[in-house]
Amino acid sequence: MKKWLKIERIPGVLASSYEKATRMVIESYYSQVADELVAAFKAGLLLDLGTGPGYLPIEIAKRAPDITIVGVDLSHKLILMAEDNAARAGLSSRIRFEVGNSARLRFEDESFDMVLSTGMLHSLKDPVAVFKEIFRVLKKGGQAWIYDPSNVTDYIDRKQWKAMLNFRERFFLWVFGWLGLHEPIDPYRREQVIPMIEAAGFVDVRIDEKENEIRIKLRK
Ligand SMILES: C[S@@+](CC[C@H](N)C(=O)[O-])C[C@H]1O[C@@H](n2cnc3c(N)ncnc32)[C@H](O)[C@@H]1O
Repeated sequence: MKKWLKIERIPGVLASSYEKATRMVIESYYSQVADELVAAFKAGLLLDLGTGPGYLPIEIAKRAPDITIVGVDLSHKLILMAEDNAARAGLSSRIRFEVGNSARLRFEDESFDMVLSTGMLHSLKDPVAVFKEIFRVLKKGGQAWIYDPSNVTDYIDRKQWKAMLNFRERFFLWVFGWLGLHEPIDPYRREQVIPMIEAAGFVDVRIDEKENEIRIKLRK
């Protein structure tokens, strides 16, 4: 897909169908990432970029009382949903959400102990700018984990998901599919991300590749 055709933010009319899909992967994906993360990071301030409906930060906060989290997303609708979800889980005091662009973060230099992002990298128009912002806001010695499944809906039973959608949600999914704006985008490969990461200043880099996902672990 052409770079200028990429839609970075989940469009408002697709937010509720996306939220229903992510709800289905809490056990199969977010819980596993949260377990892995809290085994390595116990306390401090964590930034979740492209946080979506907030289910991953919620799973992390449930497991680790000494982690506080800021979730950022371009989509105003998803941020409102994330705030509701955190409130329902009784975790609003430890997770804050805000609308923002990962390529232009409003945070001070070296303000986070850890940065996390799942499912955002492949949709970015300027991934190098985002890696540079991650490097800037991370404290020295802090880690960034950038996991990029090309589509969390790869992990769901699509038939079951479609059955959860109302007419309006199905209609907009169909429209976006018909316009070719909702096609899956492949995750980046190792050789594509290494120059981006190096341009941002990271030298401590670990990359794991699976068929449909890349997992990047960086330390500043
Ligand atoms: C596929 S979703 C993943 C959401 C969530 N991390 C998850 O794993 O369910 C990608 C999210 O990144 C957001 N996003 C895309 N580009 C962004 C940017 N430049 N800054 C902040 N958020 C962005 C989208 O709005 C969308 O909510």
